[in-house]
Amino acid sequence: MQNFTLHTPTKVIFGKGQIAQLSNEIPKDAKILLIYGGGSIKHNGVLSQVHAALEGYSVELFGGIEPNPAYETLIKAVEYIHQNKIDYLLAVGGGSVIDGTKFIAAAAKYPGADPWEIMTSGGAHITSAIPFSCVLTLPATGSETNNISVISRRETDDKLHFASPFVYPQVAILDPAAAFSLPPRQVANGIVDAFVHTLEQYLTYPVNAKVQDRYAEGLLMTLLEEGPKALEEPENYDVRANIMWSATQALNGVLGAGVPQDWATHMLAHQLTAFHGLDHAQTLAIILPQLLQEKRDVKHDKLLQYAERVWNLTEGSEDERIDKAIYATRQFFESLGIKTHLSDYQLDGSSIPAMVNKLEQQGLVSLGEHQDITLDISKRIYEASI
Ligand code: NZQ
Ligand code: ZN
Repeated sequence: MQNFTLHTPTKVIFGKGQIAQLSNEIPKDAKILLIYGGGSIKHNGVLSQVHAALEGYSVELFGGIEPNPAYETLIKAVEYIHQNKIDYLLAVGGGSVIDGTKFIAAAAKYPGADPWEIMTSGGAHITSAIPFSCVLTLPATGSETNNISVISRRETDDKLHFASPFVYPQVAILDPAAAFSLPPRQVANGIVDAFVHTLEQYLTYPVNAKVQDRYAEGLLMTLLEEGPKALEEPENYDVRANIMWSATQALNGVLGAGVPQDWATHMLAHQLTAFHGLDHAQTLAIILPQLLQEKRDVKHDKLLQYAERVWNLTEGSEDERIDKAIYATRQFFESLGIKTHLSDYQLDGSSIPAMVNKLEQQGLVSLGEHQDITLDISKRIYEASI
């Protein structure tokens, strides 16, 4: 096992009816800006639960955070905060709203002249942020308890991430019932995102980290079991609860502590969203199977372990078992309704040179757990994904 430092300071309040707890967590004299997305929280009762919990508080609203949140929109929230002396943020929504709130929280206190620099420097120069909490409505990204934020700038086709110790949510309210209203596409997106987060911290090379390995396998098997049920029985609370907790655990730091990590699928996939607007999980489902094929030699031992322990594949040669595990992974994504080839989204690969250029511009030239995914290999992975 590798050395690690783990710090996961977000307080999690999990369960039915727990939005009501907000008033025990947010200071009574806070001047709150409630940040939300396109309006789903107005239709599913989540906003009214938040309002009820925060009766007597000063709460102003800032809506319109898009999926794959746009820098251009977030900057308007920063201006609003400066003009209205807001001192607490509450994100109510999915990963995009929470990520957007992290950026807003940091940008409002940023010492530099240009807040976009937060993204180009990966968050390195952040010295403080407005405190914030979140109410999660879409289990997927893990943003609710981590310190990562992914922001898109539409005018330059950039989708970048930053991380900072100043942007952990103080409190995350996780009520699985808030996810009942999700459309099937977003349910599937969430399952695939959490599945791929787990794989990117598991399918690397063995370091004898038994706890992390078995923890990853447990999350993967839970998502395999419960994912299809969430589509069949949208209001099954237990199913939603297991998925919500899996998705949070998949990217809150515990799984990746002390093990090598491979975020190449995410980095290649982000370009597909930036250039073509595909959903985050769709892009992962396209890239991951081809990346595993491309790197099957260096990932050989963990792929075999994955085949045996997650997919119960014990017959045939090692190569056959690895083939079957990669195929089963692709089929799982497809079974949830998420297509796994660029051509399924009417893309013919003509943007590959531009996406490879973007990877180069962003310094993403040696990716993967061995830093051996060069631009040439990224190009091959894109081409194989058509
Ligand atoms: O905007 P509203 O109206 O709320 O609708 C949203 C949105 O259209 C809808 N939705 C959310 N909860 C709902 C609901 N609809 C009905 N009922 C509910 N309960 O779902 C749509 C998608 O929401 P979004 O927040 O964009 O999805 P997700 O949570 O998948 O977040 C994706 C973003 O997170 C980033 C992605 O790159 C992408 O930008 N990621 C963030 C990470 C992190 N911070 O650690 C890691 C991830 O790998 C990922 O990159
Ligand atoms: Zn992801």
